[in-house]
Amino acid sequence: MSRITLSRYLIEQTRNQETPADLRFLIEVVARACKAISHAVSKGALGGVLGNAGTDNVQGEAQKKLDVISNEILLEANEWGGHLAAMASEEMEDAYQIPGEFPKGKYLLLFDPLDGSSNIDVNVSVGTIFSVLRCPEGVTLPCEKAFLQPGVEQVAAGYAIYGPQTMLMLTLGHGVKGFTLDREVGSFVLTHDNVHVPETTQEFAINASNQRHWEEPVQRYVSEMLAGETGPLEKNYNMRWIASMVADVHRILTRGGIFMYPRDAREPEKPGKLRLMYEANPMSFIIEQAGGAATNGVQRIMELQPSSLHERVAVFLGSKEEVERATRYHREAQ
Ligand code: AHG
Ligand code: MN
Ligand code: MN
Repeated sequence: MSRITLSRYLIEQTRNQETPADLRFLIEVVARACKAISHAVSKGALGGVLGNAGTDNVQGEAQKKLDVISNEILLEANEWGGHLAAMASEEMEDAYQIPGEFPKGKYLLLFDPLDGSSNIDVNVSVGTIFSVLRCPEGVTLPCEKAFLQPGVEQVAAGYAIYGPQTMLMLTLGHGVKGFTLDREVGSFVLTHDNVHVPETTQEFAINASNQRHWEEPVQRYVSEMLAGETGPLEKNYNMRWIASMVADVHRILTRGGIFMYPRDAREPEKPGKLRLMYEANPMSFIIEQAGGAATNGVQRIMELQPSSLHERVAVFLGSKEEVERATRYHREAQ
């Protein structure tokens, strides 16, 4: 059988009237930018791209050189094509307006240019996460407010993972497709059709070094998993934590599991570490489209009304049975 490239998949989606032509172009441009980021990441020390940039982002986190490079690659690739009204990024405080010399389109693009960047210098998988929204009608200079739409409004979401293979996982709202980069040819090839997260699992992912700060429902749930087959859950669990959300989510998409980054008592005013608009929402869309679930412990993440671009949220996502259990424990503790 002939290979189905990302371009062919998208063109066929457009032909079936599933995907408008300008959205298809947008996804192609993002994928092209991810190829460039993959190339930069893979050069490592040879490309002089490792280490800190010497600046902090709006969240007060030290930016890596590759955070800045990846952000610039995405901005430059997407600003001239006429498909976007504006962009927003983890690495920029405010919305990025399309320069006046270029035409504007009807979509808003949000991204985490390089997720898991603390792993770059140790050669562990990192990735790019993106989310696509429609620009509200009549808005010509989209500022923060235009972006503050719940995740259910996303028209597309995906991530690229830069691991042993570079892959692009994509949803346009009709399931999840996985594409692997053929580096010699330079194209993403459909390798994972109908990605599905198993409903049950025996694997969980959480940064256990924060245990002393967790709230009671998380303490209960994790201690029950650790109790194994003689405990209340009557099965043994394995634990994995890569500290790249992209890599942890990719494992869960592949073989199941639950990923947790709960709110905790370290900074009670911040509901968790991960960002709603460009980490939790796109990952929740992908996980739900693959048959899994995603909540903040109480509510479905994609139904949350965002109040700011860089808002944080607690995240429980992955295999349905376990996400439902974690959510039930939170509701019971209310
Ligand atoms: P980013 O590199 O984009 O700032 O995101 C890092 C996130 C996420 O990828 C990961 O799951 C989490 O931070 C790891 O947090 P800990 O350092 O607390 O393990
Ligand atoms: Mn991130
Ligand atoms: Mn990042």
